[in-house]
Amino acid sequence: MTYVVTESCIKCKYTDCEDVCPVDCFKEGPNFLVIDPAECIDCGVCVPECPVDAIFADTDVDVSQHPYIALNAELSMIWPTILKKKPQLETADEFKDVKNKRDLLEK
Ligand code: SF4
Ligand code: F3S
Repeated sequence: MTYVVTESCIKCKYTDCEDVCPVDCFKEGPNFLVIDPAECIDCGVCVPECPVDAIFADTDVDVSQHPYIALNAELSMIWPTILKKKPQLETADEFKDVKNKRDLLEK
């Protein structure tokens, strides 16, 4: 089991999740974070911290978001670890309620 960042994070990247992770297993891309499944200890403390409810246990991910399970694993091998919370993206307010943002994900 692992936890997974899903679509709501795209173009928001609030990073409150990283701030509470005891093992620093979030990896950072230009406009999205992912969780490294090899490092996540399944504690779940990041889940309520995300203002846009982007984080789920892999067993609870909605079927529409299933591609994000593989995407977190794939991108976590490429992107660097984020160690400190930073301000959300300037686009966060505009995109926090937007659905179907997958095409906007920058790698
Ligand atoms: Fe980090 Fe725990 Fe969230 Fe996994 S579930 S990403 S270990 S805070
Ligand atoms: Fe993204 Fe939510 Fe973390 S928007 S950066 S998963 S707090």
